[in-house]
Amino acid sequence: MNFANRYLALPPYLFAGLERKAAALRARGVDLIDLGIGDPDLPPPDFFMNALHEHLQDEDAHFYPSSQGDADVRKKVARWFRGRFGVELDPDDEICILIGAKEGLANFSRVLVNPGDRVGVPDPGYPVYSQAAALLNDAIPIALPLQPGKDFIPDLTKAIGCRILFLNYPNNPTGATAPSEFFISVADFCEAHPETVVIHDAAYSEMTFGGYRAPSLLQFTRNTIEFFSMSKLFNATGFRIGFAVGKPELIKALASLKAQLDSGAPLFIQRAMAEGLSRYNGADPPPEVRSNLDEYARRRKLVEDKLMGFGWVVVKSQATFYVWAKVGDEEFKVIDAAMEKGVILTPGRGFGKNGIGYVRLALSQPYHRLEEAMNRLSTL
Ligand SMILES: Cc1ncc(COP(=O)(O)O)c(C=O)c1O
Repeated sequence: MNFANRYLALPPYLFAGLERKAAALRARGVDLIDLGIGDPDLPPPDFFMNALHEHLQDEDAHFYPSSQGDADVRKKVARWFRGRFGVELDPDDEICILIGAKEGLANFSRVLVNPGDRVGVPDPGYPVYSQAAALLNDAIPIALPLQPGKDFIPDLTKAIGCRILFLNYPNNPTGATAPSEFFISVADFCEAHPETVVIHDAAYSEMTFGGYRAPSLLQFTRNTIEFFSMSKLFNATGFRIGFAVGKPELIKALASLKAQLDSGAPLFIQRAMAEGLSRYNGADPPPEVRSNLDEYARRRKLVEDKLMGFGWVVVKSQATFYVWAKVGDEEFKVIDAAMEKGVILTPGRGFGKNGIGYVRLALSQPYHRLEEAMNRLSTL
């Protein structure tokens, strides 16, 4: 088959090889503890599931939704945004509902890049930016290194001349958060470089602990587009729902792109999202979300402490359910040895060159399984 060059340029999807190895071990009867993919093990809160059931019965649930998302749901997103970030949004011009953040992040660059354009991507970073957003649109990903010595904050001057700059805080895979000064410098960058569209991926904005609250880039500049996901907030990865907010021109382009590509997120899922967001009290999440976060904080402490006890260099973090650990340049040796013990880790290089020597552990297993995983890793 003669596949297109842009397809052939894609590196193999990070998890495919790991899944094959894991399947072979499972077939041998090995009890695997999967700390690879970040998919919450905890169930969605009752209010979210009840809203899904209820709205599935709505008379209009079976119709094509609007590409930009239901007008009433957008109003509820605007209300949440005001309570959570103190930012006023026009639901008609500044919000677009998505079939998960990935859908928007992967597709949106089509309206911005021409072949050969440069797209700034954090390295290490969520692979969708360099692959689906850049390579699949014949654009060139430009790595912006995130290094421990610089608190995983990129040098924005490296993005000068890019058509798009992707940023992501709280960050996958490092768990890093960015201080307000960084967001201010991003706002200055947007002002100084109108040729570059800054896309902020805030998929983990609600997954924070220890009193830390992630800001929205829109608190610093309106000259951007920002993507939010309900996947980790409501343990709802399979329901595929999120939204984008930002500059009206960009939101309009995203909605018209979606009119070409899909027909919007199913209405009953949009309405479950709206119900979930309406459970916030201002900036405070509902108790069900709070207790999820407490559980992740407990798991994080366990894993960070144990790994540091083994002598691994761990990035301590107040956000996300990922632990980013430096294990030495040949991380595959560690990953293979861990897999032989029945623990799946993600190789850091899957997130870019600056991930070489690191592994990512997702805290998406119950506490006792994480304890068991740590026992197994202690014998590596
Ligand atoms: C940084 C980042 N952005 C976006 C997403 C995708 O979010 P969604 O499930 O809403 O498509 C993920 C999922 O892992 C992610 O890690």
